[in-house]
Amino acid sequence: MLVSPSLLAADFTNLSKDIDMINRSEADMLHLDVMDGVFVPNISFGFPVLDSVAKICRKPLDVHLMIVEPEKWISQVRDLGAYMMNIHQEACLHLYSTVCHIHEAGMKAGVTLNPATPVSTLEDIIADLDMVLLMSVEPGFGGQSFIPHTLEKVRKLKELIIRSGSKAMIQVDGGVNASTGKALAEAGADILVAGSYVFKATDPAAAINSLKTL
Ligand code: DX5
Ligand code: ZN
Repeated sequence: MLVSPSLLAADFTNLSKDIDMINRSEADMLHLDVMDGVFVPNISFGFPVLDSVAKICRKPLDVHLMIVEPEKWISQVRDLGAYMMNIHQEACLHLYSTVCHIHEAGMKAGVTLNPATPVSTLEDIIADLDMVLLMSVEPGFGGQSFIPHTLEKVRKLKELIIRSGSKAMIQVDGGVNASTGKALAEAGADILVAGSYVFKATDPAAAINSLKTL
């Protein structure tokens, strides 16, 4: 299993300590949640913070944009040196051209679906995606409970990916812990995002390992 710890649950008074832990851990990437107070009812951090994080983080950056008109920010995300740019299907009117522009900028393209957005909405773009991120909570806040219906969505998405010959990976975000992570692994998830489960743990590196071995 690939693991992408979400910095949203880190100690913002001492980010360098938490990023140092991530650098030394088995984490595969670092998940960065950008919120605009419009697409989601919360604001997290923006480019000044992301720039500083990018300078010291040695893991690939997995940027999850919970913002309207994400297409306006492709060059800024590229300038961070991001590995993957995730945009929400619900926030982007012209998904196909935006995915093309993310690729032209040299990044992997991920499309994120809210809990109530069906997997079938990606039928005509799945072949062009590197990743689909299924939200297993409503986006905007860490520490929420996993929505069990996500497991069914992972299975449906896996079928769609196989049927269309896509190489897209399945990432799941929200309420992930050892127990929901195990169910997600069985359903076919490839990458788990975990905020609270990692950063609120007494031993964050061990929490990362417990997901890695699923
Ligand atoms: C929520 C964010 C998540 C969040 C997950 O909108 O997209 O990445 O950090 O937090 P936990 O793992 O605590 O549910
Ligand atoms: Zn996220």
